Amino acid sequence: MARTTAPDTAALPALPHWDSVPDDLPAATRELKAALRARIAASGRSVEQVFAVIERRVLDQVEEIAAAKRRGEPAWPEIAYADIAAGTVSPTDLAMLRRRGCLVVRGHFPREQALAWDQGIVDYVEGNRFFENYRGPADAFFDSVGSKPEIYPVYWSPPQTQARQSDRMARVQAFLNGQWTSESDGVRWFDPGRDSLYPDRIRRRPPGTDSGGLGAHLDPGTLDLWMTGDYQRAFRHLFDGTVERYDPWDASHRTAGPQYPGSTMCSAFRTFQGWTALCDMDHDQGVLHTVPVPEAMGYLMLRPLLADVPDDDMCGVRLNQAFPVSDRWHAPLLPALTGLPDIKAGDTVWWHCDMIHSVAPVTGQQGWGNVMYIPAAPWCPRNERYAERVREAFLSGSSPSDFPAEHYERDWADRTRLADLNATGRRGLGIG
Ligand SMILES: [Fe+2]
Repeated sequence: MARTTAPDTAALPALPHWDSVPDDLPAATRELKAALRARIAASGRSVEQVFAVIERRVLDQVEEIAAAKRRGEPAWPEIAYADIAAGTVSPTDLAMLRRRGCLVVRGHFPREQALAWDQGIVDYVEGNRFFENYRGPADAFFDSVGSKPEIYPVYWSPPQTQARQSDRMARVQAFLNGQWTSESDGVRWFDPGRDSLYPDRIRRRPPGTDSGGLGAHLDPGTLDLWMTGDYQRAFRHLFDGTVERYDPWDASHRTAGPQYPGSTMCSAFRTFQGWTALCDMDHDQGVLHTVPVPEAMGYLMLRPLLADVPDDDMCGVRLNQAFPVSDRWHAPLLPALTGLPDIKAGDTVWWHCDMIHSVAPVTGQQGWGNVMYIPAAPWCPRNERYAERVREAFLSGSSPSDFPAEHYERDWADRTRLADLNATGRRGLGIG
C-alpha cells in the first residue's frame, strides 16, 4: 500500500490538541479520534490501510523473534563495553541494536566495582537506620512484598553518584544517544554528549522472594502521547498518510513539549531506560522482558483508531497509570516478549524509551536481584527544566519531584554533596 507521491501534509485538517489534561476526557478522546481518522482519510488512505502497513512491519519482526526463541537463540543484543569504548562495535551488532532497540552491555563496570557499590548501598541505608525508619511503600506501582522494601527510595548515595557521573556511564550513554537522530530541520533536539543524570532509585530483591512481577506496559506517557501538540508532531507520520516514514529513532518534537502529570510519569526525555546490575541474576529469576520491536509504538498509537475500540477509549490507556499492553488489544505483539539472558554484576541493561516491557513473576527467587536505575537522558529543553528541580533535590537531600515525597536522605550525613561531583556530574545537573 506504499504511495508513490507524498500527500501535502500542510493541507490536511489540523488536529485539536490539549497541552494540559482536558476537563472532559471522554469528550476530548471522541473529538480527537474523529479528527485523527479524518486527517488520515484526507491523506488519501484509510485507517485500516495505514494500520496494515505498521502491522506488517511489526508482525514480521514478532515472527522473527518468536522463531529465534523457539530455536533457543538469544534475542537480546549484547555488546561488550570494551568495544563501545574502543569504537569497535561491529556493523552486525549495531544493526541488531537498532533492530531490537534493547541491549545488554557486558562488563560495563568491573564486577568488583559493582559488588562494592551493592555493599556501599547496604552500608548507606543501614548506617542511616533506613529499615528502622521505613514508613512503607509510598506508591503502589512498586509495592513491597515483605517488611523490608525491594525498592529503596534513596537517590544520593555515593555509589549512585559515582556510577551516574562515571566516564564509563557517559561513554555508553553517548553511544546509545547516538542511535537517535538528534538534529533535523535545523533544530538540535538534544545533545547526545551530555547526560542530565536522571536520579532514580535502587532495587534490592532478596533470595526467596515471591513476586507477581509487572505486567506489560510502557513508560513514555499516557493520553498526552496523542493529545498534546508536540507529541502529535512527533508521531506525525502515523497520522498524515506517510506511515512508511515513521522512525522510532527520530527525536523531533519529543524533547521540549508538555506531559500530563501522573504518579508514574518520568519528566525527563530518555533515549533509553536502563539499569546497572549490582549482582549476578539468572534469566529465569523474575527478570525484565521486552517486546524488542521499537516500531511497535506505531502499532500502539494507531490501534485505538480501529473500529472495534469504543470511541472514548484508547485501548485502556488512562491518566496516572502506566500505559498498559494487553491481551485484549495487543495480543499479536506478545509472542515476541523476550527475557534477559543471564546477567552478571557490572553489566548494564537498556531498552528504547517507547519499548513494551514487563517483569516476570518469580517464586522463591534464587540469589539476589539488585539493580541501580540509571537511564540515558540527554540534555534537551525538557531535561534542562527538570535538572533545575533535581539540583534543588540534590542540594537538600530530598526525593526528586518525579518520585514520592519521602525525603529519607535529608539528614543522612554521608549522602553526596556538591563537593563530590566531578565535571560530568556538575554539567549533568546544570551547575556551571
Ligand atoms: Fe516500566
